[in-house]
Amino acid sequence: MGNTRATISAVGHYAPPDVLTNADLEKMVDTSDEWIRTRTGISERRMLVNGASSDMGARAVEAMLKNRGMTAADIDLIICSTVTPDMFFPSTACLIQEKTGAKNAWGFDLSGACSGFIFGLVTAAQFVETGKCRNAVVVGADKMSSITDYTDRNNCILFGDAAGAVLVEPSPEPGAGIIDSIVRTDGSGGKYLNLKAGGSAMPATRETVDRRLHYLYQDGRAVFKVAVIAMADISAEILERNGLTGADVDWLVPHQANLRIIDATANRMGLDRKKVMINIDRYGNTTAATIPLCLSEWWQCGKLKKGQTIVLASFGAGYTWGSTLIKWTADDAAAS
Ligand code: COA
Repeated sequence: MGNTRATISAVGHYAPPDVLTNADLEKMVDTSDEWIRTRTGISERRMLVNGASSDMGARAVEAMLKNRGMTAADIDLIICSTVTPDMFFPSTACLIQEKTGAKNAWGFDLSGACSGFIFGLVTAAQFVETGKCRNAVVVGADKMSSITDYTDRNNCILFGDAAGAVLVEPSPEPGAGIIDSIVRTDGSGGKYLNLKAGGSAMPATRETVDRRLHYLYQDGRAVFKVAVIAMADISAEILERNGLTGADVDWLVPHQANLRIIDATANRMGLDRKKVMINIDRYGNTTAATIPLCLSEWWQCGKLKKGQTIVLASFGAGYTWGSTLIKWTADDAAAS
């Protein structure tokens, strides 16, 4: 590897227009707006009524390209992080490649659940830093409504649909861009958060459908206990390993699973809430899309600026978790 450092040079997102509010959910399951807001921080989430993850992913990529002033032909790699691929195969990356007209790109899907975006970013950065690719796209796209059981009050309140995309390029400044990442998995957590049927272990049958095993399963309490510690620890670890403290951080960009997990991570890093990107209230948990969705919204409204230091942090099914330290290099929205 030479001296090239990868960076995020552009962001874009797509959130479908249809909204599912807590009041809507009150009519579907035994829950209340008050319970959902106090236990999770969520008020509403978006639902993709027609279409699939690749449709949202393609729109996010198109928005990102527009922001960068590039065409789809400039892309040479598409990594799509998703747990809700359009189908088992072809990959959703292939479908996004076709839909965006990225005729010079190869690509593949990456299954990292809620850490899928960070895992995809780490992977894309390797291709850029070795010189194998110049313009690598990471798309986090999840149509969580397609695997959510709207009779299960424990889980149906949590999830929403969206996509976010970033472009990974060689950094124009050697000291800035993607500085460091820590990524981890622990498969012993698989039993607490999974989708049991439809894979090779349990092919879909009438019985699996009757038993609702093609929907997401989560033991929320068990996952919460691990998530709240792991996401805070890995965020503190990346600061320590780079000789930084919370005072050096402009933005924490946490996976949006639960406001209480986000607050615990910010507290552990010594960060004020004002320095934390939070949009869980409007979108819920959109799995691989949460982090690029935050980046794109904050960049678009001019709050994420060139030269700022940011920390991405995630925790999800697997278990998978990770953190990334970035010195932001993309031109400001107003200036681009
Ligand atoms: N409305 C009203 N009550 C509900 C409810 C709902 N939508 N869902 C669950 N409850 C009830 C439970 O049945 C339970 O009742 P009980 O004590 O009589 O059994 C009670 O509320 C408390 O449940 P509990 O599971 O302890 O709540 P919690 O505070 O842990 O919050 C989650 C539940 C799912 C919000 C939380 O555990 C969580 O966020 N988990 C982790 C999510 C995550 O990070 N996932 C990883 C990435 S996807």
